[in-house]
Amino acid sequence: MVNLILGVPKEIIGGEKRVGIVPESLAKLTSLGFEIRVEKDAGKEAGFLDSDYEAHGAKIVSGAQELYSTADVIVKVERPEQHPEGGKHELEMMKKGALLVCFMAPLNFPELSKKAAQTGVDVLSMNDIPRITRAQRMDALSSQTNLAGYKAVLLGANALRKIFPLLMTAAGTISPAKVVILGAGVAGLQAIATARRLGAVVEVSDVRPAVKEQVESLGGKYIEPPQDETLEGEGGYAKEASEEYLKKQQELLKKHISEADVVVTTAQVPGKKAPVLISEETVKSMRPGSVIVDMAAGTGGNCAITEAGKEVEKHGVRIIGETNIISLVAYNASQLYSRNVLALLQSLTKEGQVVLDLEDEIVKGALITREGQVIHENTKKLLGE
Ligand code: NAI
Repeated sequence: MVNLILGVPKEIIGGEKRVGIVPESLAKLTSLGFEIRVEKDAGKEAGFLDSDYEAHGAKIVSGAQELYSTADVIVKVERPEQHPEGGKHELEMMKKGALLVCFMAPLNFPELSKKAAQTGVDVLSMNDIPRITRAQRMDALSSQTNLAGYKAVLLGANALRKIFPLLMTAAGTISPAKVVILGAGVAGLQAIATARRLGAVVEVSDVRPAVKEQVESLGGKYIEPPQDETLEGEGGYAKEASEEYLKKQQELLKKHISEADVVVTTAQVPGKKAPVLISEETVKSMRPGSVIVDMAAGTGGNCAITEAGKEVEKHGVRIIGETNIISLVAYNASQLYSRNVLALLQSLTKEGQVVLDLEDEIVKGALITREGQVIHENTKKLLGE
């Protein structure tokens, strides 16, 4: 039987330092029956050298076109784009019938899924792995966001002119920094744990009262949300708040935020623009030198005056709108992502072939295109199909 070729290209979206597969996963992928080819320098920015891949049995390929035109399965991190070398779209560089595994984000970029269907590429989207017990090992959104939550706190701590912990010195006591975290999902919970480990006093707001216990068990103080509505939605996610609710919440949070040294914002409702929780007025009420790390910068920002992709100072407050925090920890992020993808491929590979069985809940959730058609229901709706 001919082995399937699994290709690992170099990422091309600016600032993306991760790589789809790391050397430690190669032995298991090989035992599944894949032959692995890696584009030259694909892992370099994340800290994985070509020689590491070679030592684990991969073949290094010098150009992207060579890799794309031979691979049956491509594993990358970011969605496909126009390739800077040769000017072709990555989808057009792939073999017809090939499988692409990446963060396709079909609900944000439905047209891209349509293009994948038109080029005959089947896409498994790592954004759409269902959050069920069996798929926990494949949950790349969680693995990546967890690390980003950690790094966001470090960015805030670094930008602050104060230290985080209570310090008793011969010259007297320094009181601990106060950190406010908005949104206690995956990123927020890791941010709480990290800020606590560094010694800060931590307050947390989330519209889902179910997280109160988790917040408290990590040593955070839960700020009770406005009472008159429950925003606990399907699958444990939040529902979108009304304008009126957000106004009340902004008022409620203003007092806590104005006393904070660092605010880390992670509030998000899936598929929607991020809720604005910090108005410009609230920023003005903060002490000079305070810091906001707006993790939701890429989806509109939780702070009204965040600039996506930039670090700015406004009204004396540093506002960090870094949209790819995860690339700042590209080594571990790639390691976890690679393990997530490996777990997915382990569950789908039978006798050296990838079997896309639509009866399988994981395939049903994550398979966006198949044999020239967009088959993912929510993406189809967005495309009006
Ligand atoms: P999640 O969906 O697990 O958590 C979001 C939390 O926000 C939920 O607990 C939800 O209840 C809460 N929330 C929703 N509306 C709220 C409101 N009005 N007030 C307070 N809380 C509210 O999301 P996850 O995975 O933790 O990601 C958080 C954010 O971080 C997302 O915007 C994600 O795109 C972003 N992110 C940013 C990165 C970066 O580099 N900047 C890297 C990774 C993730």
